[in-house]
Amino acid sequence: MIHHRLAQPDDAQLYYAWANDPDTRRQSFNSAPISLETHTSWFTRKLTDSNTLMLVFENESNHPVGQVRFERTPVADMPDEIIIGVSVDAHQRGKGLASELIRQGCKACRKTWGDVTIHAYIKLDNQASIRSFEKAGFTFSHESDKFAVKSLVYTLPA
Ligand SMILES: CC(C)(COP(=O)(O)OP(=O)(O)OC[C@H]1O[C@@H](n2cnc3c(N)ncnc32)[C@H](O)[C@@H]1OP(=O)(O)O)[C@@H](O)C(=O)NCCC(=O)NCCS
Repeated sequence: MIHHRLAQPDDAQLYYAWANDPDTRRQSFNSAPISLETHTSWFTRKLTDSNTLMLVFENESNHPVGQVRFERTPVADMPDEIIIGVSVDAHQRGKGLASELIRQGCKACRKTWGDVTIHAYIKLDNQASIRSFEKAGFTFSHESDKFAVKSLVYTLPA
């Protein structure tokens, strides 16, 4: 059974390894490798940012298997936009874990921020991610250029 907890300072190295995973970099909107210095200041800032929710998912043996992050961004035409990101540890992929992480993560997000709409921005070729979000109840909304690269926006309505 997969369970989650809030990310904590001790997770810095774990997140650094996950962030620099080649597939994760390729499927991110900024695909350049991340230095340890950049990561450390980013991670420290995010842990205390009230507009960020970072969840670590663990298996029955309390071994970390992946993460889900929610970012709440005020935007001009909407009071808030909440964006979800997910990654599964490279050794744990192909088992259908991502949809469970997304489902549990969205429940936790709504416990924290209320009954909000959640958006996922997915690169066009990321079939595993598209399928995972669909299995977790997200539906295709529109195409976007928000992050300079074309992406598909999937939505879980409030
Ligand atoms: C995307 C990611 C989270 C998926 O995690 P996962 O738990 O390994 O997902 P799975 O490989 O089990 O695939 C999920 C579903 O997609 C399907 N799928 C996987 N690769 C596919 C492909 N190339 N084409 C079509 N379907 C595919 C699987 O069959 C599965 O569907 P099913 O359960 O109906 O069989 C994981 O690959 C990852 O961490 N990638 C790097 C980071 C990333 O891309 N994050 C998402 C950014 S939006």
